[in-house]
Amino acid sequence: MKKAIIIGGNELKGEIKIDGAKNSVLALLPAALMVNGKVTFENVPNISDIKSFLEIFDYLEIDYFYEKSAAKLTIHSREITNLEVVTPLVESFRASYYLMGVMLGRYKQLTISMPGGCKIGTRPVDYHLEGFKALGADVDFSGSTIILKAEKLIASEINFPRKSVGATMNLIYAACYAEGLSVIKNAALEPEIDDLIGFMNVLGFKVLRIQNDIHIEGMEKILNVDDISYSVVPDRIEAMSYVILGLLTGEIKVTNLNYSHIKKLIDLLKAHGADLEISDTEIIARKSTVKALDIVTEEYPGVPTDIAQILGVLLMKGDGDSVITETIFENRFESFIELNKLNCKNEIVDDSVKITGGRDFIGNTVIAKDLRGCASLVFAGLAAKFQTIVENIDYMERGYSNLYKKLSAVGANIQII
Ligand code: UD1
Repeated sequence: MKKAIIIGGNELKGEIKIDGAKNSVLALLPAALMVNGKVTFENVPNISDIKSFLEIFDYLEIDYFYEKSAAKLTIHSREITNLEVVTPLVESFRASYYLMGVMLGRYKQLTISMPGGCKIGTRPVDYHLEGFKALGADVDFSGSTIILKAEKLIASEINFPRKSVGATMNLIYAACYAEGLSVIKNAALEPEIDDLIGFMNVLGFKVLRIQNDIHIEGMEKILNVDDISYSVVPDRIEAMSYVILGLLTGEIKVTNLNYSHIKKLIDLLKAHGADLEISDTEIIARKSTVKALDIVTEEYPGVPTDIAQILGVLLMKGDGDSVITETIFENRFESFIELNKLNCKNEIVDDSVKITGGRDFIGNTVIAKDLRGCASLVFAGLAAKFQTIVENIDYMERGYSNLYKKLSAVGANIQII
């Protein structure tokens, strides 16, 4: 793994344009495998998780053309003969598990390695598998592989015990080729789900959201498409991250965002002293000290779990002591303890982290263990006195498009070795 050497304290100023959403594109790419024909995605983020997915496409012998500089990816989708995806590639990132719903839907079978991803808790897949069973699939395990098989899939009503992004995506795919009308109840509400729904309809599937439910009319025959284009929704976590970086370090204009997707956190910060100039697609964030906050992470439209670690850095500089309570994943807060090496004072108590405000960050060597934790260490390093070394910077490359280019453009002193 690589490390970042950061000389902190620069006043960061300039513009950062938000790219397509990681959690959308990782669901859209496999969806293209459900049809035959040419599909082009636009606004594709330049992140390493895309590279991982394309390695799986190589493994499956799918033809694609990735024009990185134009943020465009064209997939020439056709029938796949290899229905065994047993490779460490699957274990290297979480979204590989979308192949379960896609392949079960289209081919009625798949053998796949256990999915991986950031180690932020146990991250089970029981809702996914129970959902597949409800559609008539058999689910078996052999060593560390999952075996899915069905004679045919029959529509069903699936009621998730709690909202799950991944399980909702997976059941949308599978139900698109199940006979009849399926209803997913208590479906996740994240904008990335609605991005997938939008894309599925462009492909010709019949998927409709009605509040917390998603209705899917299964198709009998494999769909053929003719040169379809689809633009990925802007990444709301990337947008919130760079707004927070502006509040920490100088004046950053964050463009190409969707304010309605990040309203909850942005409005909360503004009400607590953040200097923010807001429009529907752009936010100017100026260095400010925010008042202490008591935050509980929630499913959309609440404050997302994915921003908690980065928001925490702002609160460490805030006016008074704050608390963040995590409700989605266990083990998400290890990065807060790592931040104590930069002269912060955080304490984990059960699912919460107590954050002492008013800290001056002082550079040191820190080790990243997950994507958003890594971002929090980098941002703290940029706001710190002296030099900070962030080990395992590769984690941040998984989810922040053109990371070094964007940071350097606003004046960050960051070097990768
Ligand atoms: C997705 C996102 C991740 C984000 C998370 C919550 C992707 C690739 N990842 O992760 O960035 O942090 O949503 O917004 O889009 N659960 C079960 N059983 C299951 C499925 C989930 O118990 O079968 C639990 C999880 O442990 C967790 C909660 O449900 O407590 C929500 O998880 P989920 O929304 O599924 O997260 P991911 O899809 O893994």
